[in-house]
Amino acid sequence: MTDLVVYDASQVATPTDDSELETVRDGAVAVDDGVVVAIGPTEEVVREHPPENATTAIDASGKTVLPGFVDPHTHALFAGDRADEFSAKLEGATYQEILAEGGGILRTVRAVREAARDELVENLLRQFDVMLAHGTTTIEVKSGYGLDVETEVKMLEAIGEAGDRHPIDAVATFMGAHAVPENTDADSYVDHVVEEQIPAVAERGLAEFCDVFCEAGVFSVDQSRRVLEAGRERGLKPKIHADEFERLGGARLAAELGATSADHLLQSTTEDVSALGDSGVTPVLLPGTAFALATDYADADAFERADIPVAIATDFNPNCFSQSMEFAIELACNGMRMSPASAVRAATKTAAAALDRTDGAGTLQRGAPGDLVVADVPDFEHLPYNFGVRNVETVVKGGEVVRRD
Ligand code: NIG
Ligand code: FE
Repeated sequence: MTDLVVYDASQVATPTDDSELETVRDGAVAVDDGVVVAIGPTEEVVREHPPENATTAIDASGKTVLPGFVDPHTHALFAGDRADEFSAKLEGATYQEILAEGGGILRTVRAVREAARDELVENLLRQFDVMLAHGTTTIEVKSGYGLDVETEVKMLEAIGEAGDRHPIDAVATFMGAHAVPENTDADSYVDHVVEEQIPAVAERGLAEFCDVFCEAGVFSVDQSRRVLEAGRERGLKPKIHADEFERLGGARLAAELGATSADHLLQSTTEDVSALGDSGVTPVLLPGTAFALATDYADADAFERADIPVAIATDFNPNCFSQSMEFAIELACNGMRMSPASAVRAATKTAAAALDRTDGAGTLQRGAPGDLVVADVPDFEHLPYNFGVRNVETVVKGGEVVRRD
């Protein structure tokens, strides 16, 4: 008796250790005890795992089976509303101008400080439902709209609780160094992050990663180094928002520290690209952010030429309001000119690497977590080709159907 068999799929596609994306025509996948136990042509898989003996059997005729998407960079937990900033940006205001006037991140900070923990949990659960519907089975969520001990802890507790209550796996990142709060300067605030916030978060075991917004007018390279080193001393693995608006040196800092990932990289040069490649840092590109800000996309081709796999993420936040990894894949192709195969790998296997997952997550290789999606498209190429709609139909987490339409 097998827990789950998906059979007769027109295509099963998965990245593997040896290939960008391996495909099987008329394929099947079997999952038992939460992990993939078989993948291959339907004829072979069903011999050992007959659908009629499975607890759940899914006929995927005409459809494509892929690993569940991993979204490795989001600010999905927030309160308040910033839709009016969208209109202001359309009229010409820049992201930095809005931030300098007390809008942007600082406005969300005020709303999150006022919100009760339960309200934050409910907000995040609603976002998780949308993400799951678009095929995301693992998601990273950052704090960083608190900027004080009490609210940063409240956010991270809410992320933990929402993760426990929802099929999506939530990975928590502490990002106290997301902005400099009003009425203080960056140096004194970094002291506070290092001396108060990081110990409070680490003692409670609330986060796996520590992130910092290394950017002109926010945190310098030296201040970012201080935050990430202090986090690392307390067991929080470094991640960094690097070279988004200006090439300040965040990518090189990520390489120096051996960070798990360096994210954004809109302004990074080929020098930065090779520094990241040499150090094993996973680059995370966020095409939705470029789309929302109507700026140039990151140079995905520079990474491709250097043979460095990149991850993609939604960067879902009040400034980039898209929960959909399907849309991120579409933008990776249409905006960054990535091939559909590279984009799918970036949203699965490499995205899992950006979260330091070493259990085969983001693939359907034998032994990997049984997280998969069935999309109503005949092959993976049709996923970005058919943009602006929901192609994902069924989502499986750990061998259990958690969403089906
Ligand atoms: O990754 N760049 C900094 N942080 C977010 C934006 C957060 C916000 O505007 O609320 C980002 O784009
Ligand atoms: Fe971000």
